[in-house]
Amino acid sequence: MNFSNTLISWYHNHKRSLPWRETTDPYLIWLSEIILQQTRVNQGMPYYLKFVERFPTVQELAAAPQEEVLKLWQGLGYYSRARNLQAAARQVIDKAGIFPKSYKELLELKGVGEYTAAAIASFAYKEPVVVVDGNVYRVLSRIYGFSLPINSTEGVKEFKKLANSLIDPKKPAQYNQAIMEFGALQCVPKNPDCGVCPFQNDCAAFKEDRITELPVKLKK
Ligand code: ADE
Repeated sequence: MNFSNTLISWYHNHKRSLPWRETTDPYLIWLSEIILQQTRVNQGMPYYLKFVERFPTVQELAAAPQEEVLKLWQGLGYYSRARNLQAAARQVIDKAGIFPKSYKELLELKGVGEYTAAAIASFAYKEPVVVVDGNVYRVLSRIYGFSLPINSTEGVKEFKKLANSLIDPKKPAQYNQAIMEFGALQCVPKNPDCGVCPFQNDCAAFKEDRITELPVKLKK
């Protein structure tokens, strides 16, 4: 099985058309990723559109009064995201308005962790860094029959290793979008429709009837 090719070809046939996928502007991609943390696409979409309209560039976001940003955020919850968003915009302005240009530099932005930095670096700059989030854990644990707990130190390390071995370094943006979309639409947490899955013949969890057991998460 060529995991990456199968995944990307599934993506081409099934992907949703989403506005942040039509841009390589790191500012807009960052905005979308912060909004989509802990938020579903359908819920986040109107907020993304409102923010882009009111703050089309990082300069405008940095210059706005904080109350205005928080007001626009109303209803999304986790307000620290909105406060960090503006703090990060001001960080960018303090650095001559130049958006960080690599995974490593992106990590320095307030509110940007490994997942978000990888998403921006791969989508905007085609840097071959893998995104690892809940969707990715689910997809990889099932297909590869990986039963290390996703919230253990060793599990995180091994999942990253596996993820890094699978990414197509020539197509990091497509690969990362594809694995997230596959987890969101096909390899869903409950009752996935494995009958239409392109990995049916390769998926360890499907073959061993362990779909409901994977991924493993330790109760802490
Ligand atoms: N959730 C987080 N990032 C996303 C993206 N780029 N597309 C769709 N859903 C997402």
